[in-house]
Amino acid sequence: MDVRRAIESRRSIQHFDPAFRLDPRVVDELLALTLLSPTSFNIQHCRYVIVDDPELRRQLRAVSYDQSQVTDASLLVVVCADLQAWRKQPERYWRHVSAPLRASFVAAMRDYYESNEQAQRDECLRSTGIAAQTLMLAAEGFGLGSCPMNGFDPDAVARLIGLPADHVLSLFVAIGKPLRPAHPRGGRLPPSEVIVRDRFPQEAG
Ligand SMILES: Cc1cc2nc3c(=O)[nH]c(=O)nc-3n(C[C@H](O)[C@H](O)[C@H](O)COP(=O)(O)O)c2cc1C
Repeated sequence: MDVRRAIESRRSIQHFDPAFRLDPRVVDELLALTLLSPTSFNIQHCRYVIVDDPELRRQLRAVSYDQSQVTDASLLVVVCADLQAWRKQPERYWRHVSAPLRASFVAAMRDYYESNEQAQRDECLRSTGIAAQTLMLAAEGFGLGSCPMNGFDPDAVARLIGLPADHVLSLFVAIGKPLRPAHPRGGRLPPSEVIVRDRFPQEAG
């Protein structure tokens, strides 16, 4: 499937076939494609919790407004990120470049993150959002349906998956075989409302 068709056909699926099993090789490919997602400074701070345990799925569903995707998707990925990845042996993010270039990236990363907690969190949420879309488009390319989800109690989910204190929880991506098509599209805003040329219009006066 080409990229254009994947983008056009991706929809948020509410109902997955609970009996459908994904070939583990497809799961591996989906994850390998997702790991190619861009991250600022190549920090690769996203963490992907693959929830296979049916009992854990049930517990997660109970804290996710009983949304059926949580138990019925063939693949449930809890997308998280490590807020402190910038200080955890950052040299490894640039191990294939020359030593001076690696040193300059590591120094720039430290300068950017060190005293800026908001940047630490913002970058995690940017990266996980991009990664989630990569995963969903990859799933579409395999003829699968997907759903991004943040309809859950974040503290309860964090407890259930044992989220480390220096990580942040972003969203679930549920993937599987759709049982029913998505709702009709809610309607997109006109391009004139959401696309800004050069700068936002300024209020007169
Ligand atoms: C961050 C995020 C969280 C979402 N959470 C849920 C969710 O918990 N349950 C759900 O059914 N859909 C969820 N959605 C899907 C949106 O409702 C959906 O993207 C929107 O209605 C547009 O529909 P489409 O994705 O089919 O184009 C979420 C989407 C995003 C981006």
